[in-house]
Amino acid sequence: MFFVSDNASPVAPEVLDALARANEGYAMPYGADALMAEVRAKIREVFEAPEAAVYLVATGTGANALSLGFMCPPWATVFCHRHAHISEDECAAGEFYTGGAKLTLIDGPGAKITPAALAQAIAEATNPDVHHVRLGMLSLTNLTERGAAYTPAEVAELTALAKAAGMPSHMDGARFANALVATGATPAEMTWKAGIDVLSFGGTKNGLMGAEAVVLFDPAKAIEFELRRMRGGHLFSKHRYLSAQMAAYLKDGLWLKLAAQANASGQRLAKGLAAIPGVEVQAAPAANLMFVRMPRSAHARARAAGAAYYLMSSDDVTAGPADTPILCRLVTSWSTTDAEVEHFLALIRG
Ligand SMILES: Cc1ncc(COP(=O)(O)O)c(C=O)c1O
Repeated sequence: MFFVSDNASPVAPEVLDALARANEGYAMPYGADALMAEVRAKIREVFEAPEAAVYLVATGTGANALSLGFMCPPWATVFCHRHAHISEDECAAGEFYTGGAKLTLIDGPGAKITPAALAQAIAEATNPDVHHVRLGMLSLTNLTERGAAYTPAEVAELTALAKAAGMPSHMDGARFANALVATGATPAEMTWKAGIDVLSFGGTKNGLMGAEAVVLFDPAKAIEFELRRMRGGHLFSKHRYLSAQMAAYLKDGLWLKLAAQANASGQRLAKGLAAIPGVEVQAAPAANLMFVRMPRSAHARARAAGAAYYLMSSDDVTAGPADTPILCRLVTSWSTTDAEVEHFLALIRG
């Protein structure tokens, strides 16, 4: 019963096998390995983007921060949701890599930006005076940090507003596969066809040991990204081990299969919890991540039985009124089993 995070899940066996195979003999370093050529070709095929430039890094923060640095000048602002990972959880890496750009935080339910809120934020930030920052870029997260999924139509509406204001758009896809499975969209529909210019394409949360891709749908300034990756310390010398992971991830649709497993467990968990009196599942979780209010006594039973997950407060689940609702975050992964979910539900039911 481990619902702390999907990046606490093990590495998928197919990926470990691929790493073992990649460990034979020698391979050119710094991304010149044969497997990287395979990854580049596969991502271009999967995204129906034959010109796309594709790079690998080892962390989602690196993928996001390099993307922001590439897309936004220091004197501009990045429009993102108030709960965006780039705002709340990356220690200002985006601000650092842009050389000091500002983040403009926007509200919206489920950590989704609404078109009205974005339009208002853009209008408020539009000021040609030298004392104000310029309009920089839009960054959307899909799956969102609150477990909701943007549809391609929703993405397109937001990127159109950004584009009308002269801004490019980025997608933090740390859980991109989960969002695709949830919406049924194709990779192209969710990204460049919906106006996304740069994608952080996650793998680590979904069965990789540590590899994320950055996909530039317009390769015109790709060399600038390469220089930033080198300068930022994110170019792996033994790059074949990143390539091997990503190649295995993309082979025969493994990435979508793993995300489908994670989402199926998430949906089983969310539906089971929603049916329990006194339990409130926030919003409607689209995939594998959810925020849930449960009575203190339910938390106490689950914790005592070894369930692991984050509470969203410093409440003590062992002391205080039994029926006080306490909010927690639950995340399933490709490796979550039905038995784990059922055991947890039984504990919460009491
Ligand atoms: C939405 C989102 N973006 C980016 C990241 C960053 O990934 P990493 O922890 O690999 O830097 C995370 C990780 O939790 C995330 O949830």
